Amino acid sequence: MSGGSAAPCKRLEGKVAIVTGGASGIGAAAAQLFHENGAKVVIADIQDNLGQALADKLGEDACYVHCDVSKEEDVSNLVDTTVSKYGKLDIMYNNAGIIDRAYGSILDTQKSDLERVLAVNTVGGFLGAKHAARVMEPQRKGCILFTASACTEIAGLGSPAYAVSKYGIIALVKHLAADLGQHGIRVNCISPFGLVTGMTSGGMDPELFEAHMSEMGNLKGQVLRTDGIANAALYLASDEANYVSGVNFVVDGGFSIVNPTIANAFNRTK
Ligand SMILES: NC(=O)c1ccc[n+]([C@@H]2O[C@H](COP(=O)([O-])OP(=O)(O)OC[C@H]3O[C@@H](n4cnc5c(N)ncnc54)[C@H](O)[C@@H]3O)[C@@H](O)[C@H]2O)c1
Repeated sequence: MSGGSAAPCKRLEGKVAIVTGGASGIGAAAAQLFHENGAKVVIADIQDNLGQALADKLGEDACYVHCDVSKEEDVSNLVDTTVSKYGKLDIMYNNAGIIDRAYGSILDTQKSDLERVLAVNTVGGFLGAKHAARVMEPQRKGCILFTASACTEIAGLGSPAYAVSKYGIIALVKHLAADLGQHGIRVNCISPFGLVTGMTSGGMDPELFEAHMSEMGNLKGQVLRTDGIANAALYLASDEANYVSGVNFVVDGGFSIVNPTIANAFNRTK
């Protein structure tokens, strides 16, 4: 074989993807990676300037659509706009999300905060899945993805309102994997450990936040960044995962399966 690098493998060639919350953080990284891998990408968000700037940067086969995922008319319009522009919908990545606060007790959680978080994280995911399924069912195939959180695997991470909202996504994944499998539609979610994004950079220096997460994390020598989650999404969205459905793909370096209490106590007494 002559020299020169082989053409990069485009793992989503010919596919059409929507990424909600695509203007920032994990969503922006996924939108870029999906596009690099040959997908036509629709970035959906409420941060219009950021979302449009990313679509402009990606150029051909990318566009931005304003969509508040908590509003059914916005989500319905997002899916219809995608299908009329690109002819179909293969991948619906319901990633948009918010937190009420980093941590806290149920006693000082306002009902309005719970409702706000549920409206975006859970209702938004529900509506995204509903309107994606509307167009995927007749296609007899499709991939619906969500971003949940490692708080669905181990208690004590995040606020009670956020945990409820993300457990709702796990219920959706299981129910929809069962319900939509007959139509050839796969349904999965990704549950990240804490990482620096627009959501977590408020209040703390990003480098300090990353250092704290690495210190608390189980897997040493690696740092979780948005590309780590985008790569997990790429796998689940691609045909390499063509028999994977109903999975909560936890990307936490093993944090949620480790109870360090005994090892820590043992090390202290050594
Ligand atoms: N960063 C973390 O540590 C972490 C950990 C676990 C899970 N997550 C989840 O990852 C997902 C992506 O968040 P991120 O960390 O990249 O944060 P981010 O703030 O950088 O991105 C979230 C995006 O969602 C958008 N958004 C918020 N409300 C919306 C609405 N109503 N309609 C449409 N878009 C809306 C925001 O404008 C933003 O662009 C979220 O679901 C979040 O809960 C994040």
